[in-house]
Amino acid sequence: MCGIVGYVGSQSALDVVVAGLKRLEYRGYDSAGVAVLADGGMAAAKKAGKLANLEKELVERPLPAGSTGIGHTRWATHGGPTDANAHPHLDNAGRVAVVHNGIIENFAALRAELAGRGHTLTSETDTEVVAHLLAEEFSACADLAEAMRLVCRRLEGAFTLVAAHADEPDVVVGARRNSPLVVGVGEGEAFLASDVAAFIAHTRSAIELGQDQVVELRRDGVNVTGFDGAPAGTRSYHVDWDASAAEKGGYDYFMLKEIAEQPKAVADTLLGRVDADGSLTLDEVRIPPGVLREVDKVVVVACGTAFHAGLIAKYAIEHWTRVPCEVELASEFRYRDPILDARTLVIAISQSGETMDTLMALRHAREQGARVLAVCNTNGSTIPRESDAVLYTHAGPEVAVASTKAFLTQLVACYLVALYLGQVRGTKWGDEIQAVVRDLSRISDEVERVLETMEPVRELARSLASKDTVLFLGRHVGYPVALEGALKLKELAYMHAEGFAAGELKHGPIALIEEDVPVVVVVPSPRGRSVLHDKIVSNIQEIRARGARTIVIAEEGDGAVVPYADHLIRIPATPVLLQPLVATVPLQVFACELATARGNEVDQPRNLAKSVTVE
Ligand code: AGP
Repeated sequence: MCGIVGYVGSQSALDVVVAGLKRLEYRGYDSAGVAVLADGGMAAAKKAGKLANLEKELVERPLPAGSTGIGHTRWATHGGPTDANAHPHLDNAGRVAVVHNGIIENFAALRAELAGRGHTLTSETDTEVVAHLLAEEFSACADLAEAMRLVCRRLEGAFTLVAAHADEPDVVVGARRNSPLVVGVGEGEAFLASDVAAFIAHTRSAIELGQDQVVELRRDGVNVTGFDGAPAGTRSYHVDWDASAAEKGGYDYFMLKEIAEQPKAVADTLLGRVDADGSLTLDEVRIPPGVLREVDKVVVVACGTAFHAGLIAKYAIEHWTRVPCEVELASEFRYRDPILDARTLVIAISQSGETMDTLMALRHAREQGARVLAVCNTNGSTIPRESDAVLYTHAGPEVAVASTKAFLTQLVACYLVALYLGQVRGTKWGDEIQAVVRDLSRISDEVERVLETMEPVRELARSLASKDTVLFLGRHVGYPVALEGALKLKELAYMHAEGFAAGELKHGPIALIEEDVPVVVVVPSPRGRSVLHDKIVSNIQEIRARGARTIVIAEEGDGAVVPYADHLIRIPATPVLLQPLVATVPLQVFACELATARGNEVDQPRNLAKSVTVE
């Protein structure tokens, strides 16, 4: 939800931290701030609004040079996006600075306690209490890492904390519970960040921090302990993203770049997962085949776009394995007291791997004895770390808040999981699996072909920029595609958009149809399940008879839809279950173009953040 950077080394801390914050601004952009240790003291600057406001402030009022510093971009939780509420927060003496991601649930009691001891707190945030508590503990132990451990033991909730103290000019300390924090290790320098994008320009050597750990950064290395002070084991890994991958690559928006990267993302997610003989080898899926053979229910938990991927996965899992599959909004899952046991396989889908709703859902599932398999795009993030197994998507960094390539790769990963379950349980023969894998291996080129024919979709989007609503219809796997198309339009164009199961229209929503209301219809293949195709053609006629402007997405060669389509968007013919991989792409392009036509900020839509790490 927020972006955090810490640095110790020989470079200008301000340069390193601000450049790192730029790479993390997608995580929140309500305010930004930095603190630098220099000349025996602490110097800080912070401004509401985007990072550019802080940069302007730093030009007008430069901070002294220093080689130790911390920084923060904020997505507001407690307290509005104001200068006073911006991080870093300092103690009254201005000797300690701290930045925070997450929510400290017992901050009110701590705030009252501090006020009772004469501290003056000047912001509305939960974070500020930490600066004052650190100052108190440091004055007793004169060791920032120990002070952090003592303070963390008093905090409740989810937090990543990074702090510095003017009395320890070559030290930065971090701590994490239920919130992301990674360490970068360079030559004579070290980094802390919410994700690796902040420091991969300097080093690709990273260290994963575990739950309830404190890390002390110095130029010559890092030391990691538990909150209790005991030395903690860590996992080092090499970051295989390079700095350029996190840049826009010549596109106006990260979203456009990421839409264009989908053919490669789909191909990369298949790489290395199929043997020469066509059998699947999902080596990260560290759940014994014997356990998978005993699974009698699958439950998918996810949020937003990832939830829509889960809805599509359900059709594949049930069709290929005949195991019942439920799909649940992660934020609702644990509150309905779900029926879970050791024979339940929970699949937690998450691009960021840090979505708190999904993390809490998988924790609940594990407490009930279920096995959890994560489908995730972010190596080393919390959700895969807390799962029994993981199947990583290989979409590369997805920076735009609106998820696109991650969605397509989540579908590919879920198809692979479904096929793997079929392989392990014997409900799919090898040749059947190979046939589906061959179909999947063609999708990359088919997505490429769709991308080459999108100009009419962009023109259509621009022509609808003044509309105040668009409806989306689909059947079978096309229904989650309709939901995804509506979500993209909501979050990018800020307009009312709603997805429906086409068969549900006559049970009420058809009352929404009036003259010239744009309705996007995702038409299933006429070859796979012709009954579905015929029914949705009837649905198109029903809405057109009532004045709707029909925007029809249908596969090449489908002639039945032509008389009823005001706008016809062709997609390659694919097997029934794989159609979402090509049908979603026009909807991504449509939403992005319409948002652009409306003058919206495409990569960082209002009120949103890329990773929602609070419940
Ligand atoms: C999708 O475009 C949105 N950005 C949002 O719905 C997102 O899919 C959801 O917050 C889940 O995020 P995750 O995949 O990182 O868990």
